[in-house]
Amino acid sequence: MESSRLLVEGGRRLTGEIRVHGAKNSVLPILAATLLCGNISVVHNSASLSDAFAAMRILRSLGCEISHEGSTVTVNSADANGDTVSDGLMHEMRSSIVFLGAILGRVGHCRLSFPGGCELGPRPIDLHLEALRRLGVRITVDHGILDCTAGVRPANADITLSLPSVGATENIMLYSALGAGETVIRNAAREPEIADLAGYLTKCGAEISGQGTSTLVINGVPELHGCEYSVMPDRIEAATYMGAAAVTHGELMLKGVRPSDMYSCMSVFSEMGCGVYPYDDKIFISARKPITAVRTIRTMPYPGFPTDCQPIVMAALSKSAGTSVIVENIFENRFMAAPELRRMGANIKAEGKVAVIEGVKSLCGAKVRAFDLRAGAALVVAALGAEGQSEISNVHYIDRGYESIETALSSVGADIRRI
Ligand code: UD1
Repeated sequence: MESSRLLVEGGRRLTGEIRVHGAKNSVLPILAATLLCGNISVVHNSASLSDAFAAMRILRSLGCEISHEGSTVTVNSADANGDTVSDGLMHEMRSSIVFLGAILGRVGHCRLSFPGGCELGPRPIDLHLEALRRLGVRITVDHGILDCTAGVRPANADITLSLPSVGATENIMLYSALGAGETVIRNAAREPEIADLAGYLTKCGAEISGQGTSTLVINGVPELHGCEYSVMPDRIEAATYMGAAAVTHGELMLKGVRPSDMYSCMSVFSEMGCGVYPYDDKIFISARKPITAVRTIRTMPYPGFPTDCQPIVMAALSKSAGTSVIVENIFENRFMAAPELRRMGANIKAEGKVAVIEGVKSLCGAKVRAFDLRAGAALVVAALGAEGQSEISNVHYIDRGYESIETALSSVGADIRRI
């Protein structure tokens, strides 16, 4: 797909304030959850992201009425009787699998195409399906189409995930929120976005306890109602701007964030030599000194270091003093930024799960290509810290998770524009 490109003239020091948008990884499951309410939900702090627009198109195709004004999305799911997500819509957004639990919970049947691989490697959903089967759902796969029908739900289901999958935890929560029975999820994902989904569902009348811990208990209720809810801030967007401050020796005040969600990121930027000062709903980052290498970073489920921030930190460490090592434990194929960063002069060796970054004194602008959302954001970060002009293509990947990244960065002094 031909999409716009970003032209970045590197070397500008970024200073000022940026207001961080609502979290992509939170708004998508919350939009799916609006299906369960049967009437009107008003979702505030919803960023204008192509993935969120794709989620809205799915909701419309299922019969919801949607209006979108600024950062507020209003969903009326009173007539949402659809049970099928078309192939085209499934492909638009790789996280559309989160609609499975919501549609099943709402209408008792769901047909959608099996998600194939994506930029990050194979995206299995075995844990989602195994858990739904434990909840009485009958599942068949035919020519790549998943056909799921709700059956008799056990009065008590105790599900232990073999790994704390974010999407599987969300699908189980969505499917268990409506109806009879108690569902316990052990080794549940603890990402803050899970607690945000639980917060929305609880406000709609769901009974969920254990948010933020690895054991969630969901007591199904006969019905849910709509509510007004504000999506949590995007911790990955915030970390991206921290990366941008770090590579430009900048000073940024990030507003509208939740520092308590970001300890693992903040400590990595501190270790790089940045001053990182969290206050209430703000983080001030000051990067007056050159970046230094850090001890080995290992991506882990929350509260460990997030895989989504890994490419951004890799970009920042490319221009540093010393050698850093990153071990990617979550996704197979998450060093997509490395070859492009090398075009900008970075010295990165990546093999399997491990990347070794020998910091260089300076990066140079180059023509590079985004191959996935966060790898794209990493290239923007590197381009801001590079000498000369960079041209980043495939910006549609970046638009999946950042609302007009160039507007936010220009407002703090970056020379960046979309062509
Ligand atoms: C979510 C986030 C994504 C983030 C990821 C990990 C959204 C929309 N996306 O993705 O940005 O990078 O969490 O924090 O919230 N796995 C299985 N079987 C399954 C499910 C997952 O083996 O049934 C594996 C995956 O291949 C991966 C790991 O578990 O290696 C983590 O995946 P998961 O937590 O499910 O990520 P997503 O929900 O897809």
